[in-house]
Amino acid sequence: MNNQRVTQTPLQFPAHFLWGTASSAHQVEGLNRNNQWWAAEAKPGAIWHEGKSGAACNWWADAEADFDRMAGMGLNAHRLSVEWSRIEPEPGRFDGAAMERYRAILAALTARGIRPMVCLHHFSNPLWLEARGGWQRAEVIERFQSFVRYTVTGLRDLCSDWLTINEPQVYVNHAFLEGIFPPHKRDTLAGLRVYRHMLLAHGVAYQTIHSLQPEAQVGNASALRAYRGERDGSRRDAFAAAVHRYLGEDIWLRAIRSGFILPPMGHGDWHPALRDSFDFIGINYYTQTLVRFKPNPLKLFGERKHKEGAELSDSGRDGPYSWYAPEGLYDLCVAMAALGKPIYVTENGLPDADDDQRPRWLLGHLAAVQRAIADGADVRGYYHWTFVDNFEWAEGWGLRFGLIALDPATQVRTPRPSAALYAEIARANAISPAQLAAHTHAE
Ligand code: BGC
Repeated sequence: MNNQRVTQTPLQFPAHFLWGTASSAHQVEGLNRNNQWWAAEAKPGAIWHEGKSGAACNWWADAEADFDRMAGMGLNAHRLSVEWSRIEPEPGRFDGAAMERYRAILAALTARGIRPMVCLHHFSNPLWLEARGGWQRAEVIERFQSFVRYTVTGLRDLCSDWLTINEPQVYVNHAFLEGIFPPHKRDTLAGLRVYRHMLLAHGVAYQTIHSLQPEAQVGNASALRAYRGERDGSRRDAFAAAVHRYLGEDIWLRAIRSGFILPPMGHGDWHPALRDSFDFIGINYYTQTLVRFKPNPLKLFGERKHKEGAELSDSGRDGPYSWYAPEGLYDLCVAMAALGKPIYVTENGLPDADDDQRPRWLLGHLAAVQRAIADGADVRGYYHWTFVDNFEWAEGWGLRFGLIALDPATQVRTPRPSAALYAEIARANAISPAQLAAHTHAE
């Protein structure tokens, strides 16, 4: 971050910039008993400290109280997801009451001046789908399309910003390569199949949404890591980083532009539904991945690292969740701008229970976004992950990403200092020199 520049004048964001937060259905709604996560949570050892989603943040019963808090902070956008297992509890049977609740949720956001962005798949699957092999079987594409058709038909008058699938990269990696998400597999071939099915389902969903709502804005949220070689000037590290980027990011991004699915997820096969199947780029960014060359093809020629001496966030069961690298977000915004479509930062945040790092991280990442905009990137909104502490998948309640702290047992909420900071920035549509002086130090 250029400290000289940022300490003297406010960092202004464009008019109509979206200041939001992001969440997902299973993590906040509570009592989602009919999906694969609820089942996984019952298995000993599956979730850190045996955490359970339980009532989560109680949003199925009362999201509106948190929407009041968002409006009170001056936020004007929120990204959420709909739960497939509620909307289609059995194959082909759609639940009108669930749809009514989602309609009420979206209407409640809009009534408070908060623009919804709805994601159609965020890690959770109905139990019936999982029992049939879930995303491993090609029939999922048609099933997803039918769910998307019903959902978009029911909600299109209340929402026009859609995400098809959240972070296919993370879903495949965690569920099929590392085995830390259900179905807890370590099966590379299954992972490649799932990734391919997610790509094809994205293309079909993109076309389906547009056929139902021509004015819709449709994209997906990709987990982007701003891969780099660990050692500056090392060609071997740069090569290893390129291999990781190719598999983790490029295959997806190329397919949604050209329609071609490259190896190993495809064989260069072309799918018209996939071609140009995005109206914007959704970037989920938490940290950067540095790659050090290893002569081992099974490790994709590289070992993933964080920068020596970097500031680390809170740790999950496998160590630090992330390291502070806001310049990675700048680089991604600038790189994605070359695709010629608007950009949204659809997730960014960190686990920090005592909030002693979040103010600086928030400012650093927002300043990076502002600098990318000043350098020509068309970034239209930022959705902080997340509004209130929520059920953090395999880490249970062990990592706290909220601007607002939650005690899940009592549902008592306590705003962290970052909530007030984010509210000030959103209201001003700018970061002030005083905020930077108070929370950042020379880097
Ligand atoms: C996911 C969220 C998750 C967040 C923090 C993202 O990968 O989309 O569901 O809570 O990261 O780990």
